[in-house]
Amino acid sequence: MQTTEAKILYNDPAAPGVYRMGLSWKTPRIEPGQFVMLRVSNGYDPLLRRPLAVYRVLGASSPTVFRGSGIEVLYNVVGRGTAMLSCKRAGTEISVLGPLGNGFPVHGSGDAVLVAGGMGIASFHMLARKLGRGTLLYGARTRVHARLAREFRGLGLKTKLATDDGSAGIKGPVTVLLAQELERRREPPVIYACGPAPMLRAAAELSAEYGAECLVSLERAMACGMGACLGCAIKTGTEVKETYRLVCRDGPVFDASAIDWERISP
Ligand SMILES: Cc1cc2nc3c(=O)[nH]c(=O)nc-3n(C[C@H](O)[C@H](O)[C@H](O)COP(=O)(O)OP(=O)(O)OC[C@H]3O[C@@H](n4cnc5c(N)ncnc54)[C@H](O)[C@@H]3O)c2cc1C
Ligand code: FES
Repeated sequence: MQTTEAKILYNDPAAPGVYRMGLSWKTPRIEPGQFVMLRVSNGYDPLLRRPLAVYRVLGASSPTVFRGSGIEVLYNVVGRGTAMLSCKRAGTEISVLGPLGNGFPVHGSGDAVLVAGGMGIASFHMLARKLGRGTLLYGARTRVHARLAREFRGLGLKTKLATDDGSAGIKGPVTVLLAQELERRREPPVIYACGPAPMLRAAAELSAEYGAECLVSLERAMACGMGACLGCAIKTGTEVKETYRLVCRDGPVFDASAIDWERISP
């Protein structure tokens, strides 16, 4: 992990309310699912960096070992920090802390199902590239937002869509697609899920019902991003043996069966 002043290569609209930012940075090796913390202001307001998943590594020489000349992040404008980020110009510099977190484990030769809700898709491009096969289930607001799934073409995954308004794929939550996917398979696939907490909880419950391993990438408000402030602690373990884990350092990827979902998404 390091702090770098990275040059902004581009910062362009990618979908309504969504931007993609390219940063010039001679990266160390980055694992799928890891994230960076960006300082959105040169002053003290806002003080805290904002966490964003690494969407792509630019100029990576290998399709599965992610080390290159820059990174791309994909972000939704939801508040002040991301609004300030969206105003940054190409050619200016921004402080990047990272790579942070554990990332997604890729093990076994079994089939995988990636379940993305909204901007959760930002954590999956590198994972899809590394897996090279499986199924991507993407839940988006509208067909315009769902276009981001096109960027997964050519990576070897089948893609199925769900939208809130039914303008692309099925109308309804992406977990309906997950239920269909689990129902039709003889062997349970490994489930990777990233998105809003209620979606993650539903994916975890479905996976448990079908005996599938489920790995979820959690989002928590973060101050330091590296285990110092304890602000991102979550409860894991059992009622008999409770433990606390830090989303920034021990996660953001956790085995869904270890999470106390009542506290994450009541
Ligand atoms: C490990 C990790 C990786 C992340 N990766 C990405 C990513 O790749 N792309 C991305 O767009 N976001 C990602 N996020 C979420 C992102 O960090 C927040 O959206 C961002 O910090 C909000 O900052 P803000 O100053 O714009 O909003 P704030 O001023 O902090 O919040 C404004 C409002 O938005 C709400 N809000 C905050 N976060 C979210 C959210 N995630 N979704 C919806 N509403 C929210 C707040 O509750 C508040 O009401 C990630 C978060 C974590 C922890
Ligand atoms: S954000 Fe500080 S410990 Fe996780």
